[in-house]
Amino acid sequence: MKLFIDTANVEEIRTASEMGVIAGVTTNPSLIAKEGRDYATVLKEIAAIVDGPISGEVKATTTDAAGMIAEGEAIYALDPAHMVVKIPMTAEGLKAIKALSAKGIPTNCTLIFTANQALLAARAGATYVSPFLGRLDDISQPGIELVQNIHDIFLNYPDITTQIIAASVRNPIHVTDCALAGADIATVPYKVIEQMLHHPLTDAGIEKFKADYVKVFGE
Ligand code: G3P
Repeated sequence: MKLFIDTANVEEIRTASEMGVIAGVTTNPSLIAKEGRDYATVLKEIAAIVDGPISGEVKATTTDAAGMIAEGEAIYALDPAHMVVKIPMTAEGLKAIKALSAKGIPTNCTLIFTANQALLAARAGATYVSPFLGRLDDISQPGIELVQNIHDIFLNYPDITTQIIAASVRNPIHVTDCALAGADIATVPYKVIEQMLHHPLTDAGIEKFKADYVKVFGE
């Protein structure tokens, strides 16, 4: 499973990229709004840091296919080598995905909450689908089952090449479960990457090695 980072904060992206563990970035209107900076500028900055797929979402106020297609072309034009156009799961969104896919523009269908939605997006030509497992957990529905079902369904049909980006990841257990479920990618907030890194026994072991070494050899 590949790891993407789910943020529009370029400092977090830079730090995670320097660890060598992320293969791409996902953003969304809420994450971009949180930074309070020009969308195109942020996306170009991110693409200059991470040499991988960068998901930029069409404006939350654009709901018609024609508008999403026009915006998608503009997002892709920012950096064709990296940009992926993120489009919400709607009928108009599927039309836009079909049109952009026909132009060779990669798309990420987002706000996926059922296997049927993922199947529709795949058949429309989506490059990626983003099931939001954390938001399902938040309402007592097991989000990992959605990821597993999408994986198992896609596996039945070799002509489906759409990749699963497990999103709305809330904690390190989600990451492990998504890997076990066979998600192609998990897009992870920086905080969760930090949590994945640490274990109290690792930290204690580092301190013990240092103490034993210093006892004999000094600093
Ligand atoms: O990429 C989608 C992700 O950012 C949504 O996460 O925490 O808002 O459910 P969350």
